[in-house]
This record gives sequence, C-alpha cells and structure tokens, in this order.
Amino acid sequence: MNKIIVSIVLTAILIFLINKITDSIFYVEKPEKSAYQVASVNNDADTTTSETSSDSGNIMEVFASTSAADGAKVFKKCAACHSVNKGGKNKIGPALWSVLGRKAGSLPDYKYSKAMVEYAKQWSFEEMDGFLEKPKEWIKGTKMGFAGLSSTKDRAAVILYMNENADNPLPLN
Ligand code: HEC
Repeated sequence: MNKIIVSIVLTAILIFLINKITDSIFYVEKPEKSAYQVASVNNDADTTTSETSSDSGNIMEVFASTSAADGAKVFKKCAACHSVNKGGKNKIGPALWSVLGRKAGSLPDYKYSKAMVEYAKQWSFEEMDGFLEKPKEWIKGTKMGFAGLSSTKDRAAVILYMNENADNPLPLN
C-alpha cells in the first residue's frame, strides 16, 4: 500500500517537473493573440485592411486542399436559387457570374434585401467565406434562405468554383 502511495507521489512530482521543464523550453510570449485582436478590430473599421489580415489567409490556405471541381458539386446546393454561368439569369437569388470582387447587393436588375444593399462590401474571399458559413449572421436581414455551409472545405471549394466563373477571377495569392 505504502509503495503505491509513494509511486503516485513520485509520478506527480515527475509530471510537475516535466511541465516546468517543457514550459521553460517552449515558453513563448503570446503577441500573436493580441495582434490578431488588433487585426479584427481593424476589419470592422476599415475594409481595405481586411484583405491583408490573417483571416483572409485562413480560407486561402484551405484552397490548396480542394478544387473548383469539388466546388461544382457543392454548388448543387446553391443551384436551385442561383445561376453561375456567364449570361445566367437571376433566379430566386441573384446571378453569380463574376460575383467575387463585385460589391454585395450591386446587380441593377435584381431586387435585393435592404440589408444586402446596405452591406455593400466587396466580395473578397474572406467576406464570402464568412457569409457562406452563416448567411443570416454575417448579414443580418439578408433574404437568402440558406442555412450555410458548416464545412470550411466545402466553402473553400465553392468559392474557388465561383471565382473560376468570372470575367476576371481574383488572384489566389
Ligand atoms: C433558397 C435559395 C438560395 C440558396 C439555396 C442559396 N442562395 Fe444565395 N442568395 C439567395 C437570395 C434570395 C439572395 C439575395 C439576398 C439578399 O438580397 O439579401 C442570395 C444572395 C447571394 C449572394 C450575394 C450576391 C450579390 O450579388 O451580392 C451570394 C454570393 C450567394 N447568395 C451565394 C450563394 C451560394 C454560394 C450558395 C450555395 C452554397 C447559395 N447562395 C445558396 C438565395 C439562395
């Protein structure tokens, strides 16, 4: 019995010591966290900085692991409401040819919600990613009746696909 207690105590001391040692070896100050917070504050204040922020890097990193061909499959979920081909018509939702880089809510022949027109930001990769994850949270009051794509990879794929269906695809780097 005593041996068991002693070995438990020794193990505890050992774990404690290992923690101490690894802490001192791997100790890093955490400026990343605060830098990120500053960046996200900037996002709200100024859309031009959002394109260079770390956020946009995230979805662009996922691009490498997927493809526009995968995106074509994901787009089947959108096709009931959207066309994506050149010259495609508005359906329940606006035509999506060349949507990346375009201003949100800016097709003259489609009747958007007030929320989308007032949003008016440019569809960057990052904006599109946020919107497609949770449309109704990203743009409060949008009339897009779609719950969202919870898979980051699906969002990356469909964004690549839409970017290919454009007169001037946005650069991928
Ligand atoms: C049930 C129909 C429906 C589905 C499904 C749907 N959308 Fe939409 N979408 C809409 C409507 C309606 C709007 C207009 C929203 C507004 O005015 O608030 C819209 C707007 C958009 C816009 C903004 C376009 C612009 O001109 O600013 C994008 C981008 C978009 N949808 C992408 C998608 C993608 C990608 C999918 C699939 C993953 C999808 N939508 C699925 C109905 C739908």
